[in-house]
Amino acid sequence: MKKTILILALFTGTISFALIACTSSGAKQNDNSEAVLSQDSLIKRGSYLVNAMGCDDCHSPKTMGPNGPELDMEHRFGGHLANAPLGKPNTSVMKDGYMLFAMDLTSAVGPWGQSYAANISSDETGIGNWSEEQFFRAIREGKSKGLVESRPLLPPMPWFVYKNLNDTDLKAIFAFLKSTKPVQNVVPGPKALAEL
Ligand code: HEC
Repeated sequence: MKKTILILALFTGTISFALIACTSSGAKQNDNSEAVLSQDSLIKRGSYLVNAMGCDDCHSPKTMGPNGPELDMEHRFGGHLANAPLGKPNTSVMKDGYMLFAMDLTSAVGPWGQSYAANISSDETGIGNWSEEQFFRAIREGKSKGLVESRPLLPPMPWFVYKNLNDTDLKAIFAFLKSTKPVQNVVPGPKALAEL
């Protein structure tokens, strides 16, 4: 009797082990860039990624609250607002090893000149008319507007770290951004250091 129970226990153990092994290899597959997600799941994943990866830091204007800058949800992902002009930056701080950020982080001044965070909302002044291919080229190759012939993206856009995202995650981010509220805002072009 004892022997039968022991054999039964061993048998059940082996089956459970085999089941766990199968499930975990299945989970691994969902992790790779070949995973196929529905549009709805892509948008959800994109939202999760964008919320965790700090795109708002630079791409969303802020209002000043009692504890400092707070996201301006009305203009979320609208980039540097064209109607919020900034004064002349004091570029002399750079010789002491500093660079400058606008209060809401949507513009930065450094050795490259002055750059303005792009509109990445779903409006046509943002990425509304972009193809997925353009988005991939912008993030993977650091090309402005994701066009082959265009200028390289300027700092502080950290495309060279985001380029490590797998295809599914990039698709998800793009699907989410396309689903955002359109913010109409034509962001000013960058300025060379000599123009400041
Ligand atoms: C530290 C600031 C910063 C962060 C964080 C940041 N960006 Fe950017 N991003 C910029 C700036 C500034 C530009 C404009 C650069 C230029 O004009 O060359 C830009 C440009 C872009 C562009 C190109 C837009 C165009 O019109 O060519 C895309 C797409 C983009 N960012 C997506 C993202 C996404 C998605 C995230 C989060 C995963 C993100 N960015 C996080 C600063 C940032």
